[in-house]
Amino acid sequence: MIISEKKKQELENIYQSFLHDERILRMKDISMHRGSNCYVHSFKVAKLAIKRALRHKKGNLVTILLAAILHDYYLYDWRIDKSKRRHHMGSHPYVAARNAERDFGIYDSVKKAIQSHMWPVNFTDFPKSKEARIISNADKTIYLKEIVCSKRYKKKREEKYLKRIEFLFDKEK
Ligand SMILES: [Fe+2]
Ligand SMILES: [Fe+2]
Repeated sequence: MIISEKKKQELENIYQSFLHDERILRMKDISMHRGSNCYVHSFKVAKLAIKRALRHKKGNLVTILLAAILHDYYLYDWRIDKSKRRHHMGSHPYVAARNAERDFGIYDSVKKAIQSHMWPVNFTDFPKSKEARIISNADKTIYLKEIVCSKRYKKKREEKYLKRIEFLFDKEK
């Protein structure tokens, strides 16, 4: 999909406003797979989801961007809060959707995409829209990439990751 410079700028502005939003920055404190954290993970999913949507000419780009950034906005660390551990896998999409609705007033298609991103773990919540399927697939790709990396490189990777998510559309070199 070829998008206009104006549309590109609009998406980049949304991305940047979330990247520096205080409420979103709290996700940095939530550890994730192998040295990643919730903040880095979510923006990596957002970049990949937008890239795929453009490549396959699919979906509403703003919906994809918002749902990707907010898909894991559950705001607790189950590694610290043990009471959350047992049901985390299945319940966190609904917690994230609720928090996102409360803090950012998201619309319905964004909410549905967030809620269904854990399919097939949540077997009955199939991602019905194109946008939801893109989010769910991009999340799985990023998750797999994160878990195959060794913990030994944790620090190096954190710095590298922060650099990589600086912009939605990487500057041409
Ligand atoms: Fe998730
Ligand atoms: Fe995720």
